[in-house]
Amino acid sequence: MKILGVSAGRIMGNSEILLKYALKGAEAAGCEVEIIRLQDFQIKPCIGCELCIKSKVIKGGQTVCSIPSTADQHDCYIQHVLDADGFIFAAPCYNLTACGRLFDALNRQHKILSQLKEKCNERAKYAATIGVAGTDWSNFLMPLLNFCATEHCSSNMHLVDQMLVEFVPAVGAVALEKEALDRAFKLGENIAKAVIADPGLDCYVGDTEEVCPICHGTHLQLRNGQLICPACDIVGHVSEADGKVTVTWEEGYEKSRWSAYGSKKHLDGIRAGHAKRAQGEETVKAVTAELRDYLTPIKPAPLK
Ligand SMILES: Cc1cc2nc3c(=O)[nH]c(=O)nc-3n(C[C@H](O)[C@H](O)[C@H](O)COP(=O)(O)O)c2cc1C
Repeated sequence: MKILGVSAGRIMGNSEILLKYALKGAEAAGCEVEIIRLQDFQIKPCIGCELCIKSKVIKGGQTVCSIPSTADQHDCYIQHVLDADGFIFAAPCYNLTACGRLFDALNRQHKILSQLKEKCNERAKYAATIGVAGTDWSNFLMPLLNFCATEHCSSNMHLVDQMLVEFVPAVGAVALEKEALDRAFKLGENIAKAVIADPGLDCYVGDTEEVCPICHGTHLQLRNGQLICPACDIVGHVSEADGKVTVTWEEGYEKSRWSAYGSKKHLDGIRAGHAKRAQGEETVKAVTAELRDYLTPIKPAPLK
């Protein structure tokens, strides 16, 4: 069983240090381990042509990408993703969320959605996450990092463990945090055990504060007058007693984003949007023609 560690932070920075402790733990628990530093990879950002979506969701074929595989090094990344049985993602917080490098890789991953799904149907993949932040300005880091990680498991909520280390702004600062290093090693053991045992949805062993029992996140979002878990897209109700807030969930996993129901709702939404666009072709052409020559976008000087 192979665990792929992905570091999205600085070279030998806090993410990488914790990730390597976690990989040592995974190795000690019986898995093969390998590491990717996203800073070593050139990955072009998705240009939004939607060829991947159209080829699969609309035409029902295999997902493809319009960016040629020779244009960057993303294919090497996804080959390792496809081959891994489990993942540990370690990423720094940038601007309250996970750094963009991670999302450049994830956005482009649409091109292997079909292959990834086939692989995950053969044998489930599992993920664990390590977030690091300079202070406690890390509010959106873990939900987005966890989303990125579980997308590598083909949208299965196979999050095994997560940890967040705050107040480590300087490179290597986390080396001083013995408790964090030990916890990272434990996280590595935990993901390795899950990968070996293949427990399915019942895989989570994390110990952080949580509000949602499905994604183990801490967020609530107001949408259409209801409170939802923004990661799982299920409705909850908040009550308070003795100064303690409790959320009771009206819906469970079967209505969540991760279920067959959630997946169908999402795909139906995409198909409906494309069908509406096709029906409105004349209007789209007219609006586009009207706006095409309004304002000339600022062009930067070519790079030397
Ligand atoms: C562009 C940038 C934005 C950052 N934004 C935040 C932030 O919003 N909140 C925070 O707590 N730390 C922030 N940080 C600090 C990093 O999260 C912190 O230094 C982290 O330890 C870096 O991890 P690394 O050593 O693995 O690269 C930011 C750092 C950079 C470079």
